[in-house]
Amino acid sequence: MTSSRIAGTGSYLPSKVLTNKDLESMVDTTDEWIYTRTGIRERHIAATEEMTSDLATKAAEKAIANAGIQASEIDLIIVATTTPDKIFPSVATMVQRKLGLSDCPAFDLQAVCSGFVYGLTTADKFIKSGSTKCALVIGADTISKITDYTDRSNCILWGDGAGAVILQATEDEGIISTHIHANGNHEEMLHVPRKSEGNDTITMEGNAVFKVAVNTLDQIVDETLEANNMQKSDIDWLVPHQANIRILQATAKKLDMPMDKVVVTVDQHGNTSAASIPLALDTAVSDGRIQRGEVVLMEAFGGGFTWGSVLLKY
Ligand SMILES: CC(C)(COP(=O)(O)OP(=O)(O)OC[C@H]1O[C@@H](n2cnc3c(N)ncnc32)[C@H](O)[C@@H]1OP(=O)(O)O)[C@@H](O)C(=O)NCCC(=O)NCCS
Repeated sequence: MTSSRIAGTGSYLPSKVLTNKDLESMVDTTDEWIYTRTGIRERHIAATEEMTSDLATKAAEKAIANAGIQASEIDLIIVATTTPDKIFPSVATMVQRKLGLSDCPAFDLQAVCSGFVYGLTTADKFIKSGSTKCALVIGADTISKITDYTDRSNCILWGDGAGAVILQATEDEGIISTHIHANGNHEEMLHVPRKSEGNDTITMEGNAVFKVAVNTLDQIVDETLEANNMQKSDIDWLVPHQANIRILQATAKKLDMPMDKVVVTVDQHGNTSAASIPLALDTAVSDGRIQRGEVVLMEAFGGGFTWGSVLLKY
């Protein structure tokens, strides 16, 4: 039976680094407060002219090289993003052009911080249906462009970046199961209002979102294990969405997993929204932590609310 496997990963971070110390001179905060509450030390910020499609293309080029394929083999492009360069066309079509491709389907997918999990889920279904052989799935965001750098409870969290994978059809093992959900009843807790409403930057009830995220991620862990009749000990690596170290620790505790089996990049990247999981995955694949044949659980929670997981054998 056809499955889909990750053939290669890639990522890209803008060169500008914004540290907690830098933020101390911008808003009334301290490195100690930020690190204790979030686990974040620094984050990367895109230059004014650097757009999501630029980051996404650079991550894609690395994933293509690491997969050892020709770009022309790609027959589907999905970009998970909340911060497209323009309202239209999609970032995916811009990436397609920048990679020198044409003709294959290319579209964006908007599920905020769960975007990459939604994107992998979608590409997996295209592959399993037989209509796609080689998908490029990207999570890319320039959240700094929708962040109010006078709001201390918010601006400390976010960073910019992109991560990508090449997902190929295989008769061997790969993605084991995918699980996605949404509940649109809590829009006001985490959203970007319209300019006409007087504010077009991220607006969040941080404390309330934190509690919902922890509870929801607990449930998605149970759902994923039960669906596959697996035990917590069957998971080799947790590659979570990087929102806040305390949320990551809560999920690790739920899995009885030591933190050295959790890929943590939130300290260096902050919350990069749809980019955070593929950035973390590429980090742990590149440094040799995640090996072929190991079982990886990815999970995410984000605005919408949206949430989900992908369980795979790498
Ligand atoms: C945003 C977040 C770090 C705030 O931490 P918190 O422990 O909930 O803090 P609170 O909002 O309760 O604020 C506590 C106090 O710190 C203050 N504070 C807020 N931001 C601060 C900052 N950057 N520096 C110093 N003090 C700050 C608040 O004003 C408040 O002061 P008060 O007690 O005098 O009113 C935390 O709620 C969080 O990470 N939430 C999840 C957000 C998230 O991950 N969202 C994305 C999901 S994909």
